[in-house]
Parts: sequence; C-alpha cells; structure tokens
Amino acid sequence: MNHYRNIFYAIGISAFTISFFFTLFFAYKAMQFDQIIEKKTKAKKTNAHYVLISEELNNEYWRLVEKGAKAAGRRYHVSIEYNGPLQSNLSEHMKLIDMAISSKVDGIITQGLSEEKFTPLINKAMKKGIPVITVDTDAAKSKRVSYVGTDNYRSGYLAGKALIAGTKGKAVVGIITGSFEASHQKLRVEGFKDAIKNKPGIKVVDIKASNITKVQAAEKANEILSEHPDVNAFYGTSALDGLGIAQVIKRQGHEKKIYIISFDTLPETLQLMKQGFIQATVVQKPYKIGYESVKLMHEFKKGRHIPSTIHTDTGILYQKDIAKGDVSP
Ligand code: BGC
Repeated sequence: MNHYRNIFYAIGISAFTISFFFTLFFAYKAMQFDQIIEKKTKAKKTNAHYVLISEELNNEYWRLVEKGAKAAGRRYHVSIEYNGPLQSNLSEHMKLIDMAISSKVDGIITQGLSEEKFTPLINKAMKKGIPVITVDTDAAKSKRVSYVGTDNYRSGYLAGKALIAGTKGKAVVGIITGSFEASHQKLRVEGFKDAIKNKPGIKVVDIKASNITKVQAAEKANEILSEHPDVNAFYGTSALDGLGIAQVIKRQGHEKKIYIISFDTLPETLQLMKQGFIQATVVQKPYKIGYESVKLMHEFKKGRHIPSTIHTDTGILYQKDIAKGDVSP
C-alpha cells in the first residue's frame, strides 16, 4: 500500500515540478518578446524621417541626388522619402513641401526654385521646428539652415569662358534654359552673359525655355535655328537641354558645324560627347549633393554647427577629356 502511495507522490511532485518550470520558461519567453517589441518601437521612434522633394520625380539627374541621399540615410540610420512632381511644376512642388510640413517630417531637403515663392514655405517649416536644407538651387534669403549644391552663377560663368575658347571668340549663340522662373537657371544664364560681355565676337540672339524636358529643348532649338539661321552655337542650362539640342543638330546633319555646351554628365550626354555632337559640359555632383544634404541634416539635428553654404565642385568637361576616359561625375 505504502509503495503505491510513494509512487503516487513521486508522480505528483514530478508533474508539479515540470509544470512549474514550464510556467517559468514561458513567462521568461513572454518577457523577452515584450522587450523586443519595446525595443523595435523605440527604434522606430528614434529613426528620423527626412523627405527629399525634387523638381521632377523621374528626372535622371534627380535620381542621382536620391541615390546619394539614400546612401547617407543608410549610413546615418535615417529614413529618406523621395518625392517630386511627375513633371516639373512649381505649384505641385510647393504643394508637396506643404504636405511634408503638415505630416510633421523631421527634415525637408528641397530646391529653393523661386526665392519669392518658396521663402514663405521654407520659413513656415522652420517656424514649426522642421529644418529645411536647400539643394541644387538656393533660396538664400529664406531661413533655411543650409544650401548644398553648385555655385550656379559660377557654373554659368565657366560655361561662357569655355564657349569663348571653343569658338575662338566668334559665335552666334542660342540658349535653351530649363525655366525662366527658376533661380538657378537664371543664375546660369547671368553668369554666362557676364563671361561673354566683353567679347564683341560672341552674340546671344535668342533664349527659350524647355521646362526641363528633352522634347521641348529639341522643339525650341529647332525654332531658334529656323528663326536665326546664323546660329552656330548653343548653350543648354539644364541636364536634358543639351540632349534635345543635339537631337536636332543630328537630325539636320549639322554636326561639327554647331558648337554645343551642355549641363551635367548623364550617360547620354557623355555618349553624345564621344560621338562629337556636344563639345563641352558643365559638371555637377548630384550624388554628392544628395549625400551631403542628408549628412548635414543629421548633424544639424544632433545640435552640431553646420555651414550655411556648401558649394559642391563644378567645372567643365571637354570632349577631349572624354576620349581620355577622364570622367568624374
Ligand atoms: C539642374 C536641376 C534640374 C535638372 C533638369 C540640372 O542641371 O541642376 O535643377 O532639375 O537639370 O534636368
């Protein structure tokens, strides 16, 4: 009888011990799970969210800026949202900035396309504690914390000097510009005109806007050629303008007779340079502009001092350099 009782107790005690350890084990696991969830939520809370708003979403130049910004985002553990109008449009662009302000992002990186129209928006964001860094085009009179990008006046000036050298000081010039409204495009034209102003052999006879599209750049170049048949040089002030101009020149069989200086070093531009349609181009650093802007925003949010202007490298890339393989976009 005693023997059975002992067995009964032994089973009871073992069952109790096992269930006790199981309970402990599951309680421990549940605690660990809670901690993981808490950590994740905390990580989400500290992961800053910056938005980069460009002039045109799918523009190749802006995709390079985005690439640089996202690389810096990974480096500094911040999330980067990239946005922009499908086609360049000032009021759409401004709407996107306003939406970013309403959704209380942690920082806005965008162009200051029009000093007059963008300043109130930039200042509104700053007032709400959302820092703004301008890229590519500055709105220097606004309260933005910093500007990262090309010195647009200087780049236009360099283009003018290159054109003087490339045409031996004698040319009838047509200009295709991205827009008459955008500050950086105006500065690129102003710098160019200042560079040629003491060269009586160089005349600018027309300037038309492409709305930063290749199709319109081609259309406008075509119009300039028919309205001014003596034009023998073109200057394109935004990334796709040179491509549109070259397309027309190619179609009309004018190659080698018309000098083209363009902007940027997109693959198609380099290809056209190799083929001899574009003689020179102004180099900008879109990837670097994107990277540096996020890095600066990150530093600013950490309370560190950041410079109010960072001019990224600019210079002229000539056809002869392409032949040597000397390309550093
Ligand atoms: C300019 C950008 C512009 C792009 C258009 C670049 O040269 O810096 O502001 O959006 O051209 O293709």
